[in-house]
Amino acid sequence: MRRPIIGGNWKMNKGLPSEATDMLKKLIPLVKNIDNIDIVIAPPYTTLIPVINLTKNTNIMIAAQNMYFEEKGAFTGEISPIFLKELGCSYVILGHSERRDILKETDEIINKKVKKALNFNLNPIVCIGEHLIEREANKAKEFIEKQFRISFKDLSDEELQKTVIAYEPIWAIGTGRTATPEQAEEIHIFIRDLIASSYNSKTAKVVRIQYGGSIKPSNAKYIFKKENIDGGLVGGASLQAESFSEIVKAANDSPF
Ligand code: PGA
Repeated sequence: MRRPIIGGNWKMNKGLPSEATDMLKKLIPLVKNIDNIDIVIAPPYTTLIPVINLTKNTNIMIAAQNMYFEEKGAFTGEISPIFLKELGCSYVILGHSERRDILKETDEIINKKVKKALNFNLNPIVCIGEHLIEREANKAKEFIEKQFRISFKDLSDEELQKTVIAYEPIWAIGTGRTATPEQAEEIHIFIRDLIASSYNSKTAKVVRIQYGGSIKPSNAKYIFKKENIDGGLVGGASLQAESFSEIVKAANDSPF
């Protein structure tokens, strides 16, 4: 009943139109027959326009990697949800751990952004996940519950249903150290139970929860086999058309 979603988060890579278009020209034919899952690419702002133009009339949708929670005005360097929607973005990644930890975004800021994105019909992909220190102290669930409660504060059932949650354990991002499918599934069940207890069981069944953190073609199919894992958010392996398309195919072929 949940349509899986695979996101490719390019981070601060492929920000020149020529590199972004080279990659997409390879990727588009490789994934053109994929129809069981949603495919989303998140390029940097500087390549949103060429990427959106190239993916028109394809099965690839576009996300921004961030946005601000105001619509317009004196906010130097920030990007409005209105710009993203008008350009043709369908999704926006919010609260990625790199923004939380390096750029000091708080759960409260992320909550404002989530609400604003939903106001403008951009589907938020909201990242939550613990550091190694919380995992080793057996406090991962406590940490994630706090992120969940504040980041999604005051959302209606319908709004949460449009939101994608990306469980990304920070110790697994860009480290080559993936959570085992069992470790990921345990947290996905925990998040789904949190949704059921704070919203209702229908919403818990509908919300898509992706896993993110060192997904590669070699481990993708084991991760996607888990019942509560509805696809993935891919960083490093999304930068090459071949590796990203293999991950997309693993999700497409998986018995979700
Ligand atoms: P990674 O990044 O696949 O390179 O670990 C995932 C992410 O940050 O979304």
